[in-house]
Amino acid sequence: MKPLRIGLAGLGTVGIGVIRLLRENADMITARAGRPIEVVAITARDRTRDRGVDLSAMRWHDSATAVAQDPEIDVAVELIGGSEGPARDMVRTALERGLPVVTANKALVALHGDRLSRLSSEKNAPLLFEAAVAGGIPAIKLVREGLAADRLLSVGGILNGTCNYILTEMRATGRDFTDVLTEAQAKGYAEAEPSTDVDGWDTAHKLAILAGLAFQPIAFDTLSVQGIRDITATDLKFADQLGYRIKLLGMARHAENGTVAAWVRPCLVPASAPIASVEGVFNAVSTQGVFSGPMTISGRGAGEGPTASAVVADLIDLARGTAIPVWGTQSVPAPATCANLADLN
Ligand code: NDP
Ligand code: HSE
Repeated sequence: MKPLRIGLAGLGTVGIGVIRLLRENADMITARAGRPIEVVAITARDRTRDRGVDLSAMRWHDSATAVAQDPEIDVAVELIGGSEGPARDMVRTALERGLPVVTANKALVALHGDRLSRLSSEKNAPLLFEAAVAGGIPAIKLVREGLAADRLLSVGGILNGTCNYILTEMRATGRDFTDVLTEAQAKGYAEAEPSTDVDGWDTAHKLAILAGLAFQPIAFDTLSVQGIRDITATDLKFADQLGYRIKLLGMARHAENGTVAAWVRPCLVPASAPIASVEGVFNAVSTQGVFSGPMTISGRGAGEGPTASAVVADLIDLARGTAIPVWGTQSVPAPATCANLADLN
């Protein structure tokens, strides 16, 4: 069986997780993919650091672009991060070559997904990003495949594991914001620049992707974004006393006039709502569809294992030849009144 040969840029939390998962579940993945999936080429900034896994059989390249140009790879996997620079160059280079790309990079997809998707269609090279939204939850598959037949009225939820972890820990223990953020960083949940998480931008990136898939590509700079930096343990305590939890939510709604309204902000959620009990690093993705009704799925939204699982699921789709590259197409007006917060089940 001819293996699917991977060129991987980024050997941090997620990149190393992908290598570990491919090794640990190799037999099962080969059976499900119909052929082996092997990482053959890699890059990172530091060649010398011991990363806890054996990389000796892989070709090192000097840059992510060089990985994308490697003639002996079938797929480029970008796990560096950042919407510009090496990550964007690598993805563009690979697509230009007609090579499929898998990425977990929500900033890149949120800001350049529309253009990159057009390039991906032109070159007939799938661009897959299941890991970019809500870690291990198959959120992209849910919206793009599971709900393909339905017209959605709203999509969103708890989309940032770091913020949900911070709010959960502050409420449970009264610890201070900075202390809990440091812990989230040590666990590999937080972005390289943690203000991306705590100021709401990471949620906004994921929301823009979900809205782009559910409705139509939206201009990122039209999003209204507020993070959790100003939430105190006292706020969380008072919310409790009033029967609410404070959650950072990102929501996009399709209005009857065909426009999409999208925002990110800390919200008071009734303690009885299922989404209120989504705690720690868990995320929840909620949809409201005309035929499918309300739906919420929750699971681990960040960290090595869940994110690697989503990246490798995309690789298995590519190996099987079942990858579906579709961006949003629901540009017609919504037929009914849009969902509101109380619909988040
Ligand atoms: P890390 O910071 O842990 O790893 C980033 C990796 O990229 C490092 O190996 C680093 O090299 C490498 N790198 C940085 N700059 C360059 C460059 N110029 N050329 C080549 N390699 C470079 O990030 P994560 O693994 O946490 O995240 C990777 C991606 O996955 C990001 O897009 C992130 O948003 C996304 N993501 C992360 C999740 C998580 O829970 N961590 C969850 C979902 C998505 P070196 O190690 O030598 O410094
Ligand atoms: N920093 C992100 C989070 C990683 O905390 O949710 C997962 O996308």
